[in-house]
Amino acid sequence: MSDTPRHSDRNLALELVRVTEAAALAASRWIGRGDKNAADGAAVDAMRRAFDSVAISGTVMIGEGEMDEAPMLYIGEKVGMGGPEMDIAVDPLEGTSICAKGMPNSIATVAVAEKGGFLHAPDIYMDKIAVGAGLPDNLVDLDAKPEENLRELARAKKVEVGDLVVCILDRDRHKEMIRACRAAGARIMLIPDGDVAGVVACSQPEAGVDMYMGWGGAPEGVLAAAALRCIGGQMQGRLIYEDEDQKARARSMGITDPDKKFTVEEMAKGDVMFAATGVTTGAMLKGVRREAQGAFTHSIVMRSKSGTVRYIEGHHNMTRKPGVFVA
Ligand code: FBP
Repeated sequence: MSDTPRHSDRNLALELVRVTEAAALAASRWIGRGDKNAADGAAVDAMRRAFDSVAISGTVMIGEGEMDEAPMLYIGEKVGMGGPEMDIAVDPLEGTSICAKGMPNSIATVAVAEKGGFLHAPDIYMDKIAVGAGLPDNLVDLDAKPEENLRELARAKKVEVGDLVVCILDRDRHKEMIRACRAAGARIMLIPDGDVAGVVACSQPEAGVDMYMGWGGAPEGVLAAAALRCIGGQMQGRLIYEDEDQKARARSMGITDPDKKFTVEEMAKGDVMFAATGVTTGAMLKGVRREAQGAFTHSIVMRSKSGTVRYIEGHHNMTRKPGVFVA
């Protein structure tokens, strides 16, 4: 990306929004219809097609799975119409269940980096902790107790622990973490799904989240790290192995230290761009709204090189091609 003319990667950041808009528009037909696979399939299909008009030679590094388990956007798949070589991380529908249930915070998301920029994360769990920008380095640590991390964050923000809000996925595995945070006096925002938005919320003061903690998907961890590279914020992620096969898989993907605590920069390095479009309304983005004439989308696009964060409202007119939304 670095030897590409400046104007082309500037344009690319905006092209990426078309890709997430297309996925969000397609998924929006399935909001609240109780079929998460159909919602996901529609988003994947639309995102895959939208990549055909993006001027890159992209390789999917974080995608829908291995070639034999995912028909499209599988790891290693080439996307784009040709151009600079880049690595791609996608989650065409992050929060498939929440979309199917019509609940808040599902998004369509994509990130691109220079070749080799993304951690090759297998589709296993990752233990994550994140805080926002403008705080002392190495403020929180996966190996510290929740109460210790909260104390450090409160001190750095010059507030009481009781002023802090911690976002955690609502899962049985997090019971002890939730108990410890509450015992320390912190308030908890439990989310049913969608930890990319949960992590990114730490860097968005208006979202009202001070810290993210807990296990979520490792691919989602890399996408969240890509966003934090652009918007600022700290994160640590450590892979969790449920059996020896998962460990072997990580090794085969180039992870030499299985217990490493990866930083934002180690998960998403170099020049990184991140885009997301809301499917259902959440703390970060409004969801797709469909009207007689077309549809409305709300997206965010960011670049690490410039640090620019743009919110983009799309009004998609469907009157020219009846029945088809053109992102
Ligand atoms: P999907 O979009 O694939 O349904 O993932 C939703 C999600 O909540 C992620 O945001 C999160 O990282 C992961 O699932 C957590 O996994 P689990 O549901 O197994 O706890």
